[in-house]
Amino acid sequence: MELLGAKVVAATTGRKTLKDAVDAALDDFVRNCDNTFYLLGSAVGPHPYPVMVREFQSIIGKEARQQILEKEGRLPDYLVACVGGGSNAIGLFHPFYDDTQVNIIGVDPAGLGIDTPDHAASITTGKVGIIHGFKCYAIQDEDGNDLPVHSIAAGLDYPGVGPEHCFYKDSKRAEYVTITDEEALEAFKILSKTEGIIPALESSHALSYTMKLAKTLPKDKIIIANLSGRGDKDAKQIKEMLKG
Ligand SMILES: Cc1ncc(COP(=O)(O)O)c(C=O)c1O
Repeated sequence: MELLGAKVVAATTGRKTLKDAVDAALDDFVRNCDNTFYLLGSAVGPHPYPVMVREFQSIIGKEARQQILEKEGRLPDYLVACVGGGSNAIGLFHPFYDDTQVNIIGVDPAGLGIDTPDHAASITTGKVGIIHGFKCYAIQDEDGNDLPVHSIAAGLDYPGVGPEHCFYKDSKRAEYVTITDEEALEAFKILSKTEGIIPALESSHALSYTMKLAKTLPKDKIIIANLSGRGDKDAKQIKEMLKG
C-alpha cells in the first residue's frame, strides 16, 4: 500500500485488531468527512459500502464464471470462499446468484474451535446485532458489546460479517461452514508444498474446506475455490509458529 502512495497508520486502540482498525477508519470518516474518500476494505459498514465493495469485488465472480464456461463448458458445482467481512466471498458469489444449480459455501474462521471463546465464526455462531453501522450476525454480549474474537488469519479476525452474507444465509442461497486455525495451517502447507503456491492464511480456510469437500464428491464435479490472496504477508508469522 505504501508503494502505491498510501500513508499507513497502525490501529492503536482496543486490541489493535481488524475491528479496531475499522473503528479508527469510521472515526476518521466522521471527523474528516471532507477529505476521506473510502474507508473500508471489506463488504461491511453502513450502506452503501457493502454494495460498493461487492460491486468492485464482483470482477472475481464475473471472470471466474467466464473462464469456467470457456474451459469446462459448464458452470461449477460448488463455489468456496473464506468469509471475514465477506468481500472476496461476495465478489465470487454474486455473479452466480441466479445460477441456483451452483452450490455456494462460505467458510467461517473457527480459530481454536467454535466450542471455545477463541474464534471469529460470526455467521455460523453469532446473534443478530449492530456493529459499525450495520445489522448482521455478530459475536457480542447481551448488551450488544463486541466480544474479543480470534483467528490465525488477521483478516478474518472480525466479530461481524457483511449484511449480504446474512441474507444469503437466511434465504439459504449459501451454506456457511467452519475451519479451525489448525486445519487452515495444514492447507497452507499442502498448497505450498504441492503447487509451490503460498496462499494467504485467510484463503487457506477456503482451501481446507475445498479439500474436505472434494474427498466426498465424484471426480467430475467442479469446485471453484477463491484464493483471495498470497501468503507472502503471512510467511514470517508461520515460520515463527512452525518453530514453536
Ligand atoms: C487475503 C485475504 N483474504 C480474505 C480476507 C478477508 O476479508 P473479506 O472477508 O472481506 O474477503 C482478507 C482480509 O484482510 C485477506 O487479506
